[in-house]
Amino acid sequence: MKKVLVLYKSKTGFSKHYAQWIAEDLQCDLANLDGFDKDSLNDYGLIVYGAGLFAGHIRGIARIKRWMKDSPGKTWVVFATGTTPAKESYQELIFKTNFPTGEVRPAHFYYFLAGINYEKMGVFDRLLLRFFSLMDSRKRNTSRARQTSIDLTNRDYLEDLLRYVRLKARQK
Ligand SMILES: Cc1cc2nc3c(=O)[nH]c(=O)nc-3n(C[C@H](O)[C@H](O)[C@H](O)COP(=O)(O)O)c2cc1C
Repeated sequence: MKKVLVLYKSKTGFSKHYAQWIAEDLQCDLANLDGFDKDSLNDYGLIVYGAGLFAGHIRGIARIKRWMKDSPGKTWVVFATGTTPAKESYQELIFKTNFPTGEVRPAHFYYFLAGINYEKMGVFDRLLLRFFSLMDSRKRNTSRARQTSIDLTNRDYLEDLLRYVRLKARQK
């Protein structure tokens, strides 16, 4: 049985929330990527990494990909959280953007609808988001999205990931 670790990076709490649910269901260790010592990875055979999206990019993924390259014997599962509706095409786009062909890739990738929290967001992120929303509304010729916080996280979304991790953890 592989020892499992759930690692997360979370600016406004959504990815942390999903990571906590996963660790609770799998009864495994949970850690924040910020301040995490790479050497501690030696204790684990399967690592689940999750973080929020920033303009299509998974936060912290450059470091994770370096670690994936340095530890070919381990199984990596990655999830991203965002506000875009969870369609298969979006999950595929995010996968391709973050794991281009020829680069190191996780065993499985998931995308979960999460939400937006303006209260916990830094000024820089708030300004950027306002800019993105303005650009998007111009492109679509619609009015700008409302700037209110919303939590769309749902524990049920984790079903496939949990099944997959349980199966992989049992394999040699
Ligand atoms: C500057 C900025 C850019 C974002 N870009 C995306 C994006 O490209 N796609 C998406 O679905 N959500 C995007 N979001 C929403 C966040 O990814 C979402 O709130 C995420 O769940 C945050 O995770 P966290 O709370 O764990 O940090 C963006 C948010 C900010 C502030």
